[in-house]
Amino acid sequence: MTGGSTLIVGSGLIGTATARCLARADGRVTLVSRRPPAVSPGSYGARWAALDATDVRDCRRLLDRLRPERVVLVHGPSDVTWCEANPDEARAAHVAVADTFATLAPDSRIIMISTDNVFDGSSAHNTESASPAPANAYGRAKLAAEQALLAKAPRSVILRVSLVYGHEPADADKWLNFFAACAHRLRRGEPVEAPDDHWTTPVLLDDVAEVTAALLRCGHPLPPVLHLGGPDRVTRAEWATAVARALGAPAELVKPVPRARTRYASRPANACLASEVLPDLPGIGDITVRGVREGARLLAARFTGPEPSA
Ligand SMILES: NC(=O)c1ccc[n+]([C@@H]2O[C@H](COP(=O)([O-])OP(=O)(O)OC[C@H]3O[C@@H](n4cnc5c(N)ncnc54)[C@H](OP(=O)(O)O)[C@@H]3O)[C@@H](O)[C@H]2O)c1
Repeated sequence: MTGGSTLIVGSGLIGTATARCLARADGRVTLVSRRPPAVSPGSYGARWAALDATDVRDCRRLLDRLRPERVVLVHGPSDVTWCEANPDEARAAHVAVADTFATLAPDSRIIMISTDNVFDGSSAHNTESASPAPANAYGRAKLAAEQALLAKAPRSVILRVSLVYGHEPADADKWLNFFAACAHRLRRGEPVEAPDDHWTTPVLLDDVAEVTAALLRCGHPLPPVLHLGGPDRVTRAEWATAVARALGAPAELVKPVPRARTRYASRPANACLASEVLPDLPGIGDITVRGVREGARLLAARFTGPEPSA
């Protein structure tokens, strides 16, 4: 990417992948979070700065210093279970950060990564014209943040993405994505319980990063809300089975269970997104968004290398 700089608020799974993608294209990228990310952004050509994005004064100072042309809001809290237990804190954090950046940087192109949890899960496919109706605290917090952002920063884009998956190392403190958790457990020969009544349209982390970078690059006006889901609608049990096959692990290790018995009980039954807009956007519609089998095949090699010794 040439000209101007990008500020990425949140240096977790999606923030880091987006920063890598942008830095590869020669962009000036700064990632911020309260604590440093596990992988130093310097190793892939980006920079990191400490910021609590709920602190308005610190945000103003940072924006005065960086003057970014583009901002990606991809911060937490992202743990659905934590948000359910702490609904007020979750909402306050998401709304405060959206409001702050909308107020302080209304002329930047701001992209906020949002979620399928803004829907109640009663429909098998949610496109941009579906009416949001969140059924959990995380979805309510994210929807309120979407509204806060669009109210004050009309050039902003809300990119709602389905369940994101990618590589995470075996020795991570905790695995942030379902694919990585499944892959590491299956590789060790451990059983994996996965709901057979929880539908999702998983989307590969690299594809999310590429679409986000293309939206940032896009010179023409964009619709305020876009959806990004993978092309396959699968249950978590089907998905875990695809992971097992790609790794060469026994598919019998995947134990299908009802969603209500798992930590996914508060998630919508259908966590699925489809787009009626994205495929027609110039420079974005031609990006290939890969399905779960291809995603699993691409990632398998990264999960089958030697694990670091404890
Ligand atoms: N992963 C998915 O499947 C998925 C799907 C749809 C939407 N999303 C959305 O995408 C966003 C990012 O998801 P993710 O999976 O990348 O999350 P993640 O891996 O949990 O990363 C969240 C990042 O936000 C930072 N953060 C949290 N509170 C902050 C604050 N007050 N100020 C500055 N940084 C803060 C965290 O670092 P510190 O705690 O050190 O500050 C961390 O770097 C979330 O908003 C989530 O709703 C994710």
